[in-house]
Amino acid sequence: MRILVTGGAGYIGSHTCVELLLAGYEVIVVDSLINSREESIRRVAEISGRKLNFHKVDLLDKSGLSAVFQEKKIDAVIHFAGLKAVGESVAMPLHYYTNNITGSLVLFKVMADYGVRNLVFSSSATVYGDPAALPITEDFPLKASNPYGWAKVMLEQILRDLYHADPTLNIALLRYFNPVGAHPSGRIGEDPRGIPNNLVPYIAQVAVGKLPELQIFGNDYTTPDGTGVRDYIHVMDLASGHMRALEKLATNPGLVTYNLGTGKGYSVLEMVNAFAKAAGKNIPYRIVGRRPGDIASCYADPSKAERELSWEATRGIDAMCRDTWRWQTKNPNGYEEP
Ligand code: NAD
Ligand code: UD1
Repeated sequence: MRILVTGGAGYIGSHTCVELLLAGYEVIVVDSLINSREESIRRVAEISGRKLNFHKVDLLDKSGLSAVFQEKKIDAVIHFAGLKAVGESVAMPLHYYTNNITGSLVLFKVMADYGVRNLVFSSSATVYGDPAALPITEDFPLKASNPYGWAKVMLEQILRDLYHADPTLNIALLRYFNPVGAHPSGRIGEDPRGIPNNLVPYIAQVAVGKLPELQIFGNDYTTPDGTGVRDYIHVMDLASGHMRALEKLATNPGLVTYNLGTGKGYSVLEMVNAFAKAAGKNIPYRIVGRRPGDIASCYADPSKAERELSWEATRGIDAMCRDTWRWQTKNPNGYEEP
């Protein structure tokens, strides 16, 4: 089986490529490198001991993308490519909608042109907005509060419409909760450009001494310790979720939607403490005001994926923090040469 992975040089894509190669799939990556480096692809090959094909192509470049589909018959696409900084999407909505929506439409058109009927799409827990109840099941209403989130909601709807028009398609919408951690080798991991937006990469940079302290965005939420609660999931568990989703597509399920989370929520302070333990370091922090748009709590009911994909997250927060720390200490500048 030959899998085309869009955004395969990025954080979740690179970890998924390792698992795909180890499972014996042939892998072709298409990535514009707008938020990643080709070095990650080199390390994926090193970890897996297998070669993969890399094309530096932007999804907006229809002829460049078509040339990749023309070269070899593709059995399924895993579509990770997209921009993901929420604040940036608020400041640059046109850029985000063009890259994430138009880029995806070009991909779907080229897939149709070449008769590729199997797709795994990276969605997000962001499509649930501020949920009315917890844990979150797949049938909760969808909403968004920023262009990044709206693009996910809209792309899910576009895929439901495509499926409605052609029920021979097989599409898995995977809604990730909060991906963290790194490959246990410490060779690949999350490599944010500039100052990280997300909690765990920020804590890691404080622990390694690149940033002076963590700012905790509010301790007055209605949560056990007042800080925000999220469902952190190890990126290797997410990667294996993609393997199970591909196997599911092979059974012609039509369009299916799954939460990929652990079902457990941890607060910001619990994450800080777990990371301090993993790193053997104190993590200095200061409580500041809430971040606009943040919600109090968010965690998945992952039982549908457990039931229908035979998939379950197996790694806890200690492994998440330990693996992040290993990646951070071995690669203080990410993939960039020091
Ligand atoms: P990432 O930025 O590390 O990876 C995305 C990759 O897509 C990058 O390598 C980037 O260069 C590439 N890309 C972006 N636009 C492109 C285009 N037009 N053409 C070709 N390549 C392009 O992000 P990630 O964390 O690995 O996220 C992967 C997917 O999962 C994204 O769609 C993201 O929205 C989704 N997601 C991520 C999270 C998260 O917290 N990391 C949570 C939920 C969903
Ligand atoms: C982020 C995205 C969201 C995406 C989700 C899944 C934003 C605003 N939202 O949400 O669209 O679907 O990831 O990956 O980026 N925190 C601090 N200090 C920090 C950073 C974060 O206290 O410096 C807190 C936040 O208030 C929150 C928790 O840590 O309570 C997690 O934050 P973050 O890692 O940014 O993820 P989400 O807010 O869940």
